Order: sequence, then structure tokens, then C-alpha cells
Amino acid sequence: MKDWKKFFHDNQGLLEANYPGITKERFLKEAEEIDGDEESFLKGIPFAYLLGYATFTHFDFKVNPDVLIPRPETEQLFEIVESWVKKNSQAKRLVDIGTGSGCLGISLALALPQLSVLLTDISPAALQVAETNAYNLKAPVALKASDLFTDVTGLYDVIVSNPPYIPKGHKGVHPKTSEFEPHLALFLEQEKYHEFFERFFSQASRHMSADGVLFMEGHEDFMDVILELAKKAKLTEIEVLKDWSSRPRFLKAMAPKTPIG
Ligand SMILES: C[S@@+](CC[C@H](N)C(=O)[O-])C[C@H]1O[C@@H](n2cnc3c(N)ncnc32)[C@H](O)[C@@H]1O
Repeated sequence: MKDWKKFFHDNQGLLEANYPGITKERFLKEAEEIDGDEESFLKGIPFAYLLGYATFTHFDFKVNPDVLIPRPETEQLFEIVESWVKKNSQAKRLVDIGTGSGCLGISLALALPQLSVLLTDISPAALQVAETNAYNLKAPVALKASDLFTDVTGLYDVIVSNPPYIPKGHKGVHPKTSEFEPHLALFLEQEKYHEFFERFFSQASRHMSADGVLFMEGHEDFMDVILELAKKAKLTEIEVLKDWSSRPRFLKAMAPKTPIG
């Protein structure tokens, strides 16, 4: 049995830098559950990767360095979408673009059994993790590798997405996030930022049913840019929603009023 109390005491400064907001109590709890080696904590490997899972909407999702660790803000996106679908019972088909671990799409499939759910990701390795999670949680979902909507067919009543949305080089990303979490999940090249969201919205608009809705998570510093690009794609009733800390973090938009060819 390792003396984690002494280890925390001896390395408190480094551990606090590696794990923002960490307290001794939380560290001791994590260290005991993980039963890992000191080296991993000194390097700052995220607890979820050491544990092999992260909890999201009460379910444990397998995670590994091929997928982003699910974030609390995304649970808020889950709640927003869940509540919209409950009020719009005509919604039957949902696609989660950039599903990663599958946390968002799988939680929605489990909470809203009337939905038929497709999970997509450009990363085959991420999609494998999503597939394992769907199997473990007995979630009735389909999975497909796709660059945005390139290999997605058909119309959807609900599009959800937490795409990569941090321009490379943007300040404010914790160094351990960029060291350990997949860059494909986090970053977009600065010069391709507009192009990515233009493509995202124009493809999305062609895959929305007449009353279809799109919900997307974005970066608080770039929601105005994202909003403009959504307008350009002729999405309608566009709203930016705030997170629990009143930061503009989510975009909601309805399908274009005239069908896009
Ligand atoms: C921010 S992560 C979100 C993962 C998960 N949905 C969540 O909320 O935790 C973004 C995901 O989008 C995927 N991705 C990046 N570029 C993509 C693209 N062009 N098409 C589809 N998926 C993409 C990444 O592989 C990653 O899994």
C-alpha cells in the first residue's frame, strides 16, 4: 500500500499544477482507486485515462487517449437536447457528429428510446471506443466513420455535435490537456477554422429534416464567428445558449426554411 498522503505532501505544487483544483482529499480518493504509479501522477496523466473510464450522465464511459475525456459542459448540452426532444416528440432520427467516446449520442439514445441514433467520427480509433461503450451500455445505436457528413446519408430531426473548436495556438488550454488528449478532438488549424464550420453548417443544412434542429457546443470566444457562419448556411432561429457559468457555449439552430438543394 503506497503512502499517498506523504506523496501528495511531497509533491503538492506539481500535483496542483497537473490537476487544476485538486485537493488532498480528492487526490487520495483518485490515487487509491487508480492504484497507479507515482510517475503517472507526476507526469499529470489525466485521472480518467489512468482509470480507463469517465462518468457522464451517470454512466461510466470507457476512455483512452484516442478520445476526449467527456466534459461537464457537454452534460449540459445533453440536458438541453434531451429536454428539446421530450417537447418535440416528432423527432425520431438523431446523428452525433464527432462522437468520440460516444458519451453524448449514447446518453441520448439511452434517455430517449424513441430516437434512432447514428454516431459518427472521423477517427476510426475513437469510433472503436464508442462501439465498446454502446455495447457495454446496451445502447441501440449505429456507428459510421465519416468526415463530418461526407459518408452520412439521409435526413435527421436532430443533429448534435461537440466538434473540435479551439484554434491551434489559442491561449487558455491547460498544458496537460494538449499533452494527453487527442489533438484531432480539440484543435483546428487557425487558417481552416472558418472553412471547417462553413463546411459543417452547409453539410448539416442538407441533412436536416424540415423541422430539424441542430445543437452544437462551441468555444465561448468564437461563438459570434460560429453564429455568423450558421447564418451564412441559411440556418434559421439561431440562438446562442449559455452554460452554467453564463458563458456563451451552445448554438441551437433550425433547418433552413426553403430546402437546400
Ligand atoms: C471535442 S471531441 C468530442 C467528443 C465527444 N462528442 C464529447 O463530447 O466528449 C470532437 C470529436 O470530433 C472528431 N472529429 C474531428 N474532426 C472531425 C471531422 N472532420 N469529422 C468528424 N469528426 C471529427 C474527433 O475525432 C473527436 O472525437
